[in-house]
Amino acid sequence: MRLILVLLALIGFLSCTSHNEEEYFSNNNCSTENISFSETVFPLIENSCLSCHNSNNSSGGINLSNFESIKSSAQSGQLLGSIKHTAGYSPMPQFGEKLSDCTIAQVEAWIEQGMKNN
Ligand code: HEC
Repeated sequence: MRLILVLLALIGFLSCTSHNEEEYFSNNNCSTENISFSETVFPLIENSCLSCHNSNNSSGGINLSNFESIKSSAQSGQLLGSIKHTAGYSPMPQFGEKLSDCTIAQVEAWIEQGMKNN
């Protein structure tokens, strides 16, 4: 009986610590607080999207070269739908690797925080 109690306590303790560790790591590696357009959102679009979505070459009619156009694509739901590979949207970046979970979370946070031009 005692042994069972000790084992249960141990299992409880272990599942608790591993859970905390997960939270600890995700909080540390991926900051989604006060996402800046100029420091976070625009650089990632510049690196992963602008080659196909600029003012001379706006694939699919989507031009992501400035704040206003990025904002309107975010407002329509297309921006997030495409980078999250949501059904019904064309997965982006086209032919490229899906953006990291952290990058996607940061774009999502920027949208939730009101799409500031900061
Ligand atoms: C290699 C070229 C290429 C890259 C890189 C690329 N796109 Fe696209 N994108 C396209 C083409 C071509 C279309 C239009 C055809 C289609 O919808 O598949 C398109 C369509 C879209 C659409 C409209 C999707 C829809 O379902 O209507 C959005 C939004 C979009 N891209 C966003 C992005 C974002 C954000 C990135 C960067 C993370 C990106 N694209 C990177 C070529 C590209």
